[in-house]
Amino acid sequence: MFCFKRLLSLCLLAVSAQTLVDAQAVPQTIHLQSRVAPVPATLRRRALNPVTVPLADFFLGTDLQWFGNISVGTPPQTVSVVFDTGSSTLEFASTLCGAACDNQVKFDSTKSSTFVDVGTTSSITFSTGVGVDPVVGANYRLTLRSARDTVSVGGLTANNTSLFLITNQTAKFGIDPFSGIQGMSARAQGFFASLINQGLPSLFSLFLTPQAVGHAEMTVGGIDTTKFNGSLTFASLPAGSSSTWVLNSPQLFVNGKSTSVLKASRNIIFDSGTSNILFPTATANAMYALISPDIVPHTAEPGTYGIACDLIDTLPAVIDIAFTSQSGAPFNLTIPSSELNVGPFADNPAICQTLINAFDGLSLVGGSVLKHYYSVWDVGNQRMGFAAI
Ligand SMILES: *[C@@H]1O[C@H](CO)[C@@H](O)[C@H](O)[C@H]1NC(C)=O
Ligand SMILES: *[C@@H]1O[C@H](CO)[C@@H](O)[C@H](O)[C@H]1NC(C)=O
Ligand SMILES: *[C@@H]1O[C@H](CO)[C@@H](O)[C@H](O)[C@H]1NC(C)=O
Ligand SMILES: *[C@@H]1O[C@H](CO)[C@@H](O)[C@H](O)[C@H]1NC(C)=O
Ligand SMILES: *[C@@H]1O[C@H](CO)[C@@H](O)[C@H](O)[C@H]1NC(C)=O
Ligand SMILES: *[C@@H]1O[C@H](CO)[C@@H](O)[C@H](O)[C@H]1NC(C)=O
Repeated sequence: MFCFKRLLSLCLLAVSAQTLVDAQAVPQTIHLQSRVAPVPATLRRRALNPVTVPLADFFLGTDLQWFGNISVGTPPQTVSVVFDTGSSTLEFASTLCGAACDNQVKFDSTKSSTFVDVGTTSSITFSTGVGVDPVVGANYRLTLRSARDTVSVGGLTANNTSLFLITNQTAKFGIDPFSGIQGMSARAQGFFASLINQGLPSLFSLFLTPQAVGHAEMTVGGIDTTKFNGSLTFASLPAGSSSTWVLNSPQLFVNGKSTSVLKASRNIIFDSGTSNILFPTATANAMYALISPDIVPHTAEPGTYGIACDLIDTLPAVIDIAFTSQSGAPFNLTIPSSELNVGPFADNPAICQTLINAFDGLSLVGGSVLKHYYSVWDVGNQRMGFAAI
């Protein structure tokens, strides 16, 4: 699955005749418990220290996505990417892309002495039934060419990293203030896998603040303990969750109440690239029933709901998502009422879209939860940690 945030609420699921998987380089295997026998000190790899990179907020009336700089090539060219826990590969606009990518900074592979053209072409099409700007047909489609080059993040360098150059894209991508996407899935790949092999601890942390607060950041290989008070609560990924960041939740609460529909156990995906939250239709309806009868589906854009903008800001809409910590203790991640309003619909600006989208088949949360916590994404221990901020 390739899933990230577009505009106000899309979770993009890749469907493609010629899928990215076909073109993808074989992921590097990371041996997480590799050091069993003692190794002579002289052979011990030198640990890499964690690095922190600042993130900017793609804000369109609401916080959408957070992106930062990496460098690619020799000499290095700066490429801005969304660090997306909902996907796993690196792709960015290149000079092979013509006018379609003119709003993005383009990487010029001819200026990099370390660039290797692998030359496999593929395309990836994104589809979902929901969104303020709904996906229709193939209106979110990237054309890609596989390659390898040096990639650096915060000064840590990974040679010969698999990546994809965007050679064409549909117009919907034109508004992005960044050039690409760096997947940060629960199985380390690309630059992150290389850095782990070089001795970097196999975790990263996100501090995704609202635009008004600023100073958002990602720490690769560590935890920035200056960004929260109190302690981190860790929960384990379910066995077999593969590369998806997912936690089991036994129950949802809205405004302190629960119902039989909300008491169901479900696995919830954590996608830093998506800002709205997605639940199956019956769950979304049960949640809205505890907020206001005036919130109704916005039929022009399937999966979305809305209410008159002048009613929305006074509605209590506290969502508690229950989880179980590694020690067996229950804890909640809480979305405050202030997240309910994600802004006016384009086709009717008097109606404001509400946070929860109906999406049958999965449950997914993103930025609207993550910006209220410091989050730790522990690949090596297959767990996630949260501390309130
Ligand atoms: C990314 O680098 C550009 C300069 O190339 C700089 O203007 C911008 O502020 C940087 N963005 C972040 C989030 O650090
Ligand atoms: C990466 O490549 C550079 C230049 O070829 C080399 O100096 C460096 O040692 C390489 N780094 C690693 C970790 O292999
Ligand atoms: C770069 O990676 C490719 C694919 O993994 C490998 O075949 C090639 O030998 C590597 N090149 C160098 C210089 O390490
Ligand atoms: C890029 O894609 C658009 C469709 O989105 C298509 O019309 C156009 O011909 C493509 N350009 C190239 C150079 O392939
Ligand atoms: C931690 O608590 C202190 C004292 O209340 C406060 O001044 C500080 O801003 C807090 N730091 C964070 C990162 O929340
Ligand atoms: C989670 O939230 C619900 C609803 O507000 C509350 O009843 C429950 O006590 C909370 N659980 C924890 C562990 O705080």
